Amino acid sequence: MGMNIAIDGPAGAGKSTIAKRAAKELGFLYVDTGAMYRTIALSLLRSGTDCEDEAALAGELDRMQIGMEYKDGEQRMLLNGENVTGLIRTEEVSRMASFSSAKPIVREKLLELQRKLARENDVLMDGRDIGTRILPDADLKIFLTASVEARAQRRYLEQTEKGEKCSLEEIKADIEDRDYRDIHRDTAPLIQAEDAVLIDSSDMTIEEVTERIVSLAKERA
Ligand code: DC
Repeated sequence: MGMNIAIDGPAGAGKSTIAKRAAKELGFLYVDTGAMYRTIALSLLRSGTDCEDEAALAGELDRMQIGMEYKDGEQRMLLNGENVTGLIRTEEVSRMASFSSAKPIVREKLLELQRKLARENDVLMDGRDIGTRILPDADLKIFLTASVEARAQRRYLEQTEKGEKCSLEEIKADIEDRDYRDIHRDTAPLIQAEDAVLIDSSDMTIEEVTERIVSLAKERA
């Protein structure tokens, strides 16, 4: 078995940007588990499945095929063979993923896929329950967080740079809502693993956080 690094934390703490960079520096496979939940959410939206209808949800999950491939180090998500990587970052998908990922049956579908990737590769996997549930024996666990203000500010800048109109207050409220759902759900709530290293990125640059993770990984190797 290779080396496994788990990075968990709330939305907007910079996890995916940082995890991607750290994985590249370490020569590890970067696994974005949020993208897997987003792919399921996209499929549920397309089929108009009501997540609260357990039988319908189970049937739909059985029918859909979630696949992944790596192209030039970039993770691509496949839904029934279709490359949906560019379609899973919308607000609609984010919202659906936040609800559907709280369903145990949805998490069950991804558990083995995630563990298999970790068994077969040196992985840096990011998500919400990687250190607590998916890879409890990971060699290094990071809990990466940042204040709501810092996360809202970052998302606001990102969206205005893309030319999208948005309100800082709305973004803040949205982050607070999503945090609340992620933290208070019964299944795999977002909590820091006891043996995770806490990094608060509010006043750190992407480079600083990446370096900290890379050096921790080298210490543990
Ligand atoms: O990290 P993200 O925003 O791409 O994640 C999308 C959604 O999936 C978000 O609501 C949290 C959820 N998620 C989860 O429940 N468990 C994970 N391991 C990763 C993401």
